[in-house]
Parts: sequence; C-alpha cells; structure tokens
Amino acid sequence: MKILVINGPNINMLGIREKHIYGSENYDTLVELCKETGKKLGVEIECWQSNHEGDIVDKIQWAYFNGVDGIVINPAAYTHTSVALLDAVKAVSIPTVEVHISKVKEREDFRQVSYIRAACVKTISGQGIKGYETAIKYLAEEEYKR
Ligand code: DQA
Repeated sequence: MKILVINGPNINMLGIREKHIYGSENYDTLVELCKETGKKLGVEIECWQSNHEGDIVDKIQWAYFNGVDGIVINPAAYTHTSVALLDAVKAVSIPTVEVHISKVKEREDFRQVSYIRAACVKTISGQGIKGYETAIKYLAEEEYKR
C-alpha cells in the first residue's frame, strides 16, 4: 500500500509559526513520524509539501497516475477557500483523510468552512502532528478491510 501525505501552505513553517497553536515540533519531525508509522504498518509513505494551490492540484492528479492508494492531506488555509482541491480529490476518487493540527472547531469563523471535507472519508483535527499517525493508521486499516 502507498500513502501520499500532502501538506499545504505554511506547514513547512511548523516549529516556527504560532507555536501556541501548532506546537514546537518542526516539519522534519512530522515527516519522520509519518515514515515511522508507515514502517510499522508496512505501508509506503511519501511526504510532500507545497505553498501553491495549483501544485497541490497537480500532485493529487499525479497520485492517480502513480499508484497511490490513500491520501492524507492538510490543505492548511486552502481548506477554507479551495474548490479546486475539492474537485481534484473528487476527480481521482482516492480515499482521502483531511488532517488539521490545531482544534479548528474552536478557532475563527472563517476556519469553520472546509470545502475539501465533502470529498474526504474522515477528518482529524486537534491531535497535533499525531493526527497524521491516526490518519495513516485509519487508511491502512480501511485498506485491510477491502
Ligand atoms: C491548519 C488550520 C488552518 O485553518 C490553517 O490555515 C493552517 C493549518 C491546521 O493544521 O490546524 O495553516 O490546517
């Protein structure tokens, strides 16, 4: 099984940006956690990050043509704005889990909308970077059931 972990804008700034919200662990630690989780489950993990909406659309389409079985995505700010990301996930029909590091529900009104959610099999929010581990485990277990 192959899982692609996509992170959107400013997630590369983890450990620097708003630590009281996103914690002090950096992006490299997030990548390590995902890879370790994959190793334990016997799942191949690719981690990829971009600050650019169109590049994320391209990567989701790339997943379709490159044998990706599951996507974990934190679209970051594009969660609240991007119909293009919603359409991309719908287009590829790859089981996708939406992850947010922070407790989005307890934050500003403009963060309460998620366009991509309608195309996702699950949403994980407020678990810190551990949420990525939960998401990978969920996709691996669902794959096992199929
Ligand atoms: C985020 C929440 C978003 O509202 C925000 O724009 C982010 C990160 C999170 O992981 O908690 O950049 O997706």
